[in-house]
Amino acid sequence: MPAQTRPIRLRWPTVSVFPNGECRMPLSILPMAENDLEGVLALWSETEGVGLNESDTLEHLRAYLDRNPGLSLVVRDGEQIIGAVLCGHDGRRGYLNHLAVRPEYRKRGLGSQMVETCLASLKSIGILRCNIFLFAGNDLGEQFWKRHGWSQRSDLQVMQRKCSSE
Ligand SMILES: CC(C)(COP(=O)(O)OP(=O)(O)OC[C@H]1O[C@@H](n2cnc3c(N)ncnc32)[C@H](O)[C@@H]1OP(=O)(O)O)[C@@H](O)C(=O)NCCC(=O)NCCS
Repeated sequence: MPAQTRPIRLRWPTVSVFPNGECRMPLSILPMAENDLEGVLALWSETEGVGLNESDTLEHLRAYLDRNPGLSLVVRDGEQIIGAVLCGHDGRRGYLNHLAVRPEYRKRGLGSQMVETCLASLKSIGILRCNIFLFAGNDLGEQFWKRHGWSQRSDLQVMQRKCSSE
């Protein structure tokens, strides 16, 4: 086959086909950039199972992206952010937070592709294990993680306190 007619192999050829038959270009999974953050926050604030707190301001999220360059991801459909995950590490363990896909784009493999991409990136920089935090009662989320090879550490509990009393 001549080079110019060879099909281009996309890494994630996910095409959006809508009930009216409209077909859109493949969705792209991209590194999260600072100018994605408003759209990302909008997605998270509308997603069940994602809990936002005082660390989810634009300022804190910008600092997180600076500290963990290239690891967090978004999925775009045109201008709209339809999926996102925060990925970072502390030099020893990786962490994924706030994995979310808009309901109408779920069950096409986007969530798992974002997770696998994050794990590959963590592995490439020498991080051997990754943790996630899941709200108790998030059954959909729990099923997703367990079916994708994640296991609950029943020997550990997460404990937390604020760094200052303010
Ligand atoms: C969890 C979440 C991110 C998964 O996103 P998603 O894009 O639907 O994930 P995937 O498509 O990769 O996988 C979801 C299911 O669809 C199935 N699937 C994937 N591609 C499919 C396809 N082409 N056709 C049919 N099913 C498919 C997968 O097998 C998977 O099934 P399982 O969960 O029973 O194993 C999404 O449900 C979500 O945003 N939930 C709310 C937020 C949340 O709970 N986040 C996790 C806690 S931090």
